[in-house]
Formats: sequence, C-alpha cells, structure tokens
Amino acid sequence: MREKLEAIRAAAVAAMENADKAEELEALRVQYLGKKGELTAVLKQMGKLSAEERPVVGQLANDVRAKLEAAIEARAEQLARRAMAARLLAETVDVTIPGAPRKLGKRHPMYQVLDEIEDIFIGLGFEIIEDREVELAEYNFTKLNVEEGHPAREWTDTFYFTDDSSILLRTQTSPMQIHAMETRPLPIRMIAPGRVYRKDEVDATHSPMFHQIEGMAIDKGITMADLKGTLNTVVRSLYGADTVTRFRPHHFPFTEPSCEMDIQCYKCHGAGCPTCKGEGWIEVLGAGMIHPKVLEGCGIDSKVYSGWAFGFGLERLALGQYKISDLRLIFENDVRFLEQF
Ligand code: DAH
Repeated sequence: MREKLEAIRAAAVAAMENADKAEELEALRVQYLGKKGELTAVLKQMGKLSAEERPVVGQLANDVRAKLEAAIEARAEQLARRAMAARLLAETVDVTIPGAPRKLGKRHPMYQVLDEIEDIFIGLGFEIIEDREVELAEYNFTKLNVEEGHPAREWTDTFYFTDDSSILLRTQTSPMQIHAMETRPLPIRMIAPGRVYRKDEVDATHSPMFHQIEGMAIDKGITMADLKGTLNTVVRSLYGADTVTRFRPHHFPFTEPSCEMDIQCYKCHGAGCPTCKGEGWIEVLGAGMIHPKVLEGCGIDSKVYSGWAFGFGLERLALGQYKISDLRLIFENDVRFLEQF
C-alpha cells in the first residue's frame, strides 16, 4: 500500500507539473483526488490494514493528498500568471508612442477657382456638364465649322488615335456645345469644364494637357448684349464690382461675330505693369454669337433661335488669381506649393 501511495504521488505530481492548461489540471485533480479518484480508492482500503500499520499509512496518505493539493495550487498559479502575461503582451498599447500625424490635403488652387466659377454660373441658372475627353474629329472640328485643312487639325497640333484622323483627344471643350445642342431641349444654358490636349512642349506657359471651361446660352432673341452682360456679371463676382472689361473683335470659326474679352489689369488698373506685361489689359477669353451654320448643323432653326458661346483656359485664370508665375507648379502637386492657397 505504501508503494502504491508513493507511485500515485510520483505520477500525479509529475503530471500536474506538466499540465499546460487549467482544464488539464482540473482533470488531474478529479483523477487523483475526486470521489472516484485513485487516492480515494486507496484510502477506502485502509480498513484492511492492521492496527499498527493504519496510522503510519494514514499519515502517508494525508501527506500525499497534501502534496497533490499543493502541486495543483502551485501549477494553477503558474498557469494563471502565464495566461496573464500572454494577454498583456497581446493587448499591449504603448501610450507613449506619439500619434501618427494625418496629412490633411487641400483643394487644389485651380479647382478652388473652378468651384467659384461653377457657383456663379449655377446662380445664373446654368447647368454644368462634363463629358468625354476622347472625341470624334467631326465634333471637335467639323461640326464647329473648322473645315478640313484648318491648321488646328494638323497632326503636329493634335493627338489622333487613328490614321484617318477621325478620333482624337479633344483640343478644346467647344465640342461640348455640339453635344449639348444635340441632346438637350431648348433653351440651353450650360458650362462645360474639362481637360483638353494639344501637342505642346511643356514650359512655363504651355502644357500638352490643360483645362478649359466652355459656356453657352441658346434661346429666342439672345444677343451679344446677353453675352456681355453675363460675362461682366461673372467677372465682377470673381474680381470685384469695379472690374472693367473690354471686348475686342476677333475670329473663331464657330462664332460670328467673334470677340475676345480683356479685363483691365487688377494690379495697375490700366497703367501698365509686369502683371499685364505693360498692356494695362489682360486677355481672358474668346467668345461670340454661335455661327448659324453650327446651329443649323445641330438641327436648330437659326432664324428662331440664337446663342452665344465662350471658352477660356482655367490654368491661366488660376495663375492670375493666385499670382503664380509658372504653369508647371499647377500640375506638380507638390504639397509645399499647394498648401499656400
Ligand atoms: N475653343 C476656343 C479655343 O480653344 C475658345 C473659344 C473661343 C470657345 C470662342 C468659344 C468661343 O466657345 O465662342 O481657343
């Protein structure tokens, strides 16, 4: 019986010391110390022992029970400590690490100008339309009265996709006039901002990609006075109520008559300075009354309806507005530059 108790002690303690989980340890407790446990089974046979042996074996059995209980308690404590350490490690939050700074972007200066212009036109009842940048030559040129042989149609000026020069990256937003006339009911009041492409070398004032805004109004009885009134309203909202404009005759194939609008230099008020290159005036846009041929080509009766159109470069306007000297800065997207506006 002694040997049996010793064997139980040795086996139980070894198993308990190696238990890896709280459940394993509990199973061992039941296995040895439970009501049907191995130690309990031995104790139940105490009655068979002689009177001299009984206290000695009883003492040993109590010892073994105490050892097993101590082993369970010690291991349980170890396992609990280990579990806590693992949890702490897994859930570590180092509150001393400085927060990751979030770089906040800013609206690009050119789009700030565009937003402002769009707001003004929306206020005047105009619709804003954006559409394709890949265009048919028919819409980019022909329907705008730019015939075959016009220099703007040259391969050296234009990015064509096909050998027959029928598909291209639009060179102007003016084809949006045609799309609007073909798809919208009259009257039409719209502006169409977007990218345009030309085979230009990059320098301080040129880029093969830039942005234009097209504008157009068609209704019964529209005249040049409506064009001037609208453009003056827009320019005064942008540059201040005292802004002075002038309209000079010009030529565009799709308008007749055509003009260019200048604004008096906001820097020198007409005296001449570096901003206006000594002119006193800054050219802002091209415009005119839509050519009857263009209207008729879109199925609009030019004896009943008339309209005006304008187009201008957005970058140039932003450069002027923010006194930026080099067009390339607009496209580089260097945050140090963009942050300033
Ligand atoms: N599309 C012309 C250009 O790229 C600008 C322009 C001039 C647009 C006169 C117009 C206009 O609508 O009426 O140079």
